[in-house]
Amino acid sequence: MPENTLTITDNRTGQTYTVPIEDGAIRAMALRQIKTDAEDFGLMTYDPAFMNTASCRSSITYIDGDKGILRYRGYPIEVLAERCTFLEVAFLLLFGELPTQAELKNWTHEITYHTMLHESTKKFMEGFRYDAHPMAMFVSTVAALSGIYPESKQVHDANNRLLQIKRLIGKVPSISAMAYRHNMGFPYVYPDNDLSYAENFMNMLWKMVEPKYVANPVLARALDILFILHADHEQNCGTNAMRSVASSHADPYLSTAAAAAALAGPLHGGANEEVLKMLDEIGTKDNVPAYIKKVKEGHTKLMGFGHRVYKNYDPRAKIIKWTAEQVFEVTGRNPKLDVALELERIALEDEYFVKRKLYPNVDFYSGIMYQAMGFKPAMFTVLFAIPRTVGWLSQWQELINDPEQKIARPRQIYTGYGKREFVPMEKRTAPAPVAAR
Ligand code: ACO
Repeated sequence: MPENTLTITDNRTGQTYTVPIEDGAIRAMALRQIKTDAEDFGLMTYDPAFMNTASCRSSITYIDGDKGILRYRGYPIEVLAERCTFLEVAFLLLFGELPTQAELKNWTHEITYHTMLHESTKKFMEGFRYDAHPMAMFVSTVAALSGIYPESKQVHDANNRLLQIKRLIGKVPSISAMAYRHNMGFPYVYPDNDLSYAENFMNMLWKMVEPKYVANPVLARALDILFILHADHEQNCGTNAMRSVASSHADPYLSTAAAAAALAGPLHGGANEEVLKMLDEIGTKDNVPAYIKKVKEGHTKLMGFGHRVYKNYDPRAKIIKWTAEQVFEVTGRNPKLDVALELERIALEDEYFVKRKLYPNVDFYSGIMYQAMGFKPAMFTVLFAIPRTVGWLSQWQELINDPEQKIARPRQIYTGYGKREFVPMEKRTAPAPVAAR
């Protein structure tokens, strides 16, 4: 019977250590005992960008990046996208099981009940410049809710946590829609509790003077599917920010705002907006080869391609491509689709992309679909943040309930000066070297 251990010989001292292997990992702290002498701090691992470090145990989302598999609580994403509503999936992610009919009815009612924003939140949002990016408004407003619900600081009270979770899931579409209408200069629309989660969001975005907004059912379902696909994705940059900030026991509004801020970057959830800019820049199918050449020469990146974990086709991208076809039947085909398909075709054959296992990711087709539905590119990342709030909150619950978790605090390898003599002002002549500034 092979032993589940790792034997390490420190060639500096000739000493041998045996450390246990659990779930295909060794504990980094097991290395601390490896020292050259009693004064030595002990061995650390160096892992910029967490390329090979597990920071938690999680039973929420499973990804096999080589095979292109994504499951929430064990259920393949394809089945959930086909058979569930977003709020059903939200329940699954948060509580671990699919809801019964009665549980779903109650859950939907509870989320609906929390869609209204305090009027002072509306006033807060009105203070933004007319053209403020909706993600800047989203991040700031989610953080501002901390001031409205100060009891949310009691993060160890399970009932309190659940209340804040319902509030956040209920309110993020309202905040997002207000950000959009602020940009457009339209009056805000209050939630309509008769509508489903996606329909109500569409109502708050697009209702004009009609007495009752009626969403196109194909578009509402497409949005709901996109919400399902974006709900969680294990320890990505935004979720890592959520866990890191929440590990200090910051309240869920502040932690969610931090996670959303991480999502806003162009290498993460901001990529969908960048894809549209890229497709605009390319213009027509004929210009695709020249653009691919530019990417291969390292002048730019193919946005919406590549992923830290998926080294195969992102399963979400496949479902989005299919969903986009349904949307185009209602809205008409987005002409950018031809450019995107051509980019994908060439990239999937090209040695540069094949060798690096670069495939379309979730952001590659979502923007084209969102644009066809009438969303402005600046809203795309907000459309990601709404459903991902559920994933962040599921991960937050798991973090708070995990007795092994402590405040997140990585180590560093110090590369600066040793102790130096202080230089008085009158003796400072040369400008400081760049590295020291
Ligand atoms: N276009 C061209 N080349 C790329 C791309 C791309 N989109 N992505 C990676 N590469 C190349 C890198 O230049 C590198 O090449 P090299 O080995 O010759 O240096 C190699 O592929 C490996 O890439 P890394 O940057 O090491 O991969 P990493 O895991 O750090 O980055 C990331 C992943 C950030 C997603 C990257 O692929 C990227 O920037 N993609 C474009 C932005 C994007 O679409 N982001 C959305 C990701 S999905 C999401 O967050 C929701």
